[in-house]
Amino acid sequence: MRLDSGVIRELHWHQQAEWAYVLEGSVRVTALDYEGGNFIDDLNKGDLWYFPSGVPHSLQGLGENGTEFLLIFDDGSFSEESTFILTDWLAHTPKSVIAENFHLAPEVFKHLPKSEKYIFQGSQPGALEDERPHGRNVKKSKYQFTHKMLAQEPKKTSGGEVRITDSTNFPISKTVSAAHAVIEPGALREMHWHPVADEWSYFIRGKARVTIFAAEGNARTFNYVAGDVGIVPKNMGHFVENIGDEPLEMLEIFRSDQFRDFSLFQWMGETPRRMVLDHLFADDKEAGDKFWDAVRDPSKDEITDPEKSLSHHDDDNEEL
Ligand SMILES: *[C@@H]1O[C@H](CO)[C@@H](O)[C@H](O)[C@H]1NC(C)=O
Repeated sequence: MRLDSGVIRELHWHQQAEWAYVLEGSVRVTALDYEGGNFIDDLNKGDLWYFPSGVPHSLQGLGENGTEFLLIFDDGSFSEESTFILTDWLAHTPKSVIAENFHLAPEVFKHLPKSEKYIFQGSQPGALEDERPHGRNVKKSKYQFTHKMLAQEPKKTSGGEVRITDSTNFPISKTVSAAHAVIEPGALREMHWHPVADEWSYFIRGKARVTIFAAEGNARTFNYVAGDVGIVPKNMGHFVENIGDEPLEMLEIFRSDQFRDFSLFQWMGETPRRMVLDHLFADDKEAGDKFWDAVRDPSKDEITDPEKSLSHHDDDNEEL
């Protein structure tokens, strides 16, 4: 979704939980929590929000150019057309009832919008602190609905960086977890799989090639560019190659409270040597010894660079 400067995605709520990643610009979000506490925050590129089911909220583009963000819902049957919208509700409620509800005369509501506004040009908002509601009974939410994902200290791997955000560091996000990965040219998002949920991938920058192993002798390779979406069903083995000459930036998103993956490299090194070699190198003892030497001290290297792998043994490499 893109919102120009001052443009509002109107006050609404829905059945599904909403998770979003800000791709460009800045955006103001407002929400109300389950205990009646209000939340308001300004977000920039690389920030997230998460609104649980039913939590009412609004979005407004800020700055010169507004904002663009990626919206994720925790149910594939979600429709952006089926949200509960403030103006839509009031347009379908008798004025007499609205008047009673707000303890005012019906004339006050004569000029309410006749149908939903959905997305519309609003007035320019002031500073966050000036906009905060001030009524006597107004209270600030004790929940944090937003999170600065890109500002997280990344896990440095030999071939790039990974940031993981799930309910361990963003507690409200109980149904969506995600990893943000930067894969340097020549590096590989290592062979792995995810045990808790299907992966929904979004490619932010660069060019990728993903190969998915689906068991029963099936594997297939797909290419992606910025703006593409991919899916890797739960537990299917896969890897991501950067096939461009700039860093590849992507999100791996899951319907789960925790991010989890299994690394093939780590699995090998954490399995008895004889077991591994009997499987893969029964007919080539020399190669088996080299392989074991590479994996025997496994350290998880989610994005691995063959030139400077964390666990390679320099002297062995020179022998090759
Ligand atoms: C807004 O967009 C214009 C045109 O692309 C660009 O020149 C300008 O730097 C942008 N402003 C901000 C604050 O990003």
